Amino acid sequence: MRKEDSSELEISLLLEAFYHKYGYDFRQYSRAHIRRRIMSRMGLTGISDVALIQSKVLNDQTFAYELLQDLSITVTEMFRDQEFYKSVRKNVIPVLKTYPFIKIWHAGCATGQEAYSVAIILKEEGLYDRTTIYATDFNQQALDRAKEGIFSNAMMEEYALNYQLSGGIASFSDYFTFNYDRGIINQSLKKNIVWANHNLVTDSVFAEMNMIICRNVLIYFDINLQNKVQKLLYESLIPGGILGLGLKESLRFTDYSEKYTELDKKLRLFKKKY
Ligand SMILES: C[S@@+](CC[C@H](N)C(=O)[O-])C[C@H]1O[C@@H](n2cnc3c(N)ncnc32)[C@H](O)[C@@H]1O
Repeated sequence: MRKEDSSELEISLLLEAFYHKYGYDFRQYSRAHIRRRIMSRMGLTGISDVALIQSKVLNDQTFAYELLQDLSITVTEMFRDQEFYKSVRKNVIPVLKTYPFIKIWHAGCATGQEAYSVAIILKEEGLYDRTTIYATDFNQQALDRAKEGIFSNAMMEEYALNYQLSGGIASFSDYFTFNYDRGIINQSLKKNIVWANHNLVTDSVFAEMNMIICRNVLIYFDINLQNKVQKLLYESLIPGGILGLGLKESLRFTDYSEKYTELDKKLRLFKKKY
């Protein structure tokens, strides 16, 4: 057997071990992503063999937890891809205004910045009080940080600029209280957000959502898994509900491309057909 094939096999065995021991299923994630992250952990620990990583995962829960953090990329920011939020203001808010109650699901919310960004827009549009935002991730550490809603001053400066570029006209700092070098998001924006641990690969649908935002998550999945998760998202949306994907993500090559109309093709906003 070629060395390349045997290391591929070792990665498969490692992912099997991870799944069977801890229930986290990375077997259908993009292999390039998984390989990069495992190599990075090997570099950090000085372990030179994937088989040794596997045995450590099986015998050392702390190590397995660290590897889980490696495999789950939680990079995010408020009003990330400002044009997306401009389009939400222009194309999505008028649809949401037609509903008496609104349910929005952020699938793969990481440390919460995306959910807080949408909360701000809803507040400005007078929709926040009739909305429940469900913000989920399978990374509990990220969710715990999300619930706090605390951001450093450096982040606050960056986010304030993003907010303006996304069409925000209020004073961004009014949404925070400040404590030394940190901004803390106002309770009035937190109160309708439900944070929950949910795994898109192994857990079930969320019922009757008016909008689902799942951005920069599917990019880490292979096409079969993207298809499976698209089914979950499709079944969680009401007819006419809106799906927002990341700028590098699409419905192409999934079974769902014909089941939506494009609200904004470039900014990846879709409306579920009736
Ligand atoms: C790059 S972040 C995206 C955050 C945010 N949506 C954004 O675009 O800024 C990807 C998030 O997806 C989460 N994730 C990856 N696989 C997941 C799964 N199977 N179920 C739930 N969340 C998952 C990761 O933990 C991470 O927090």
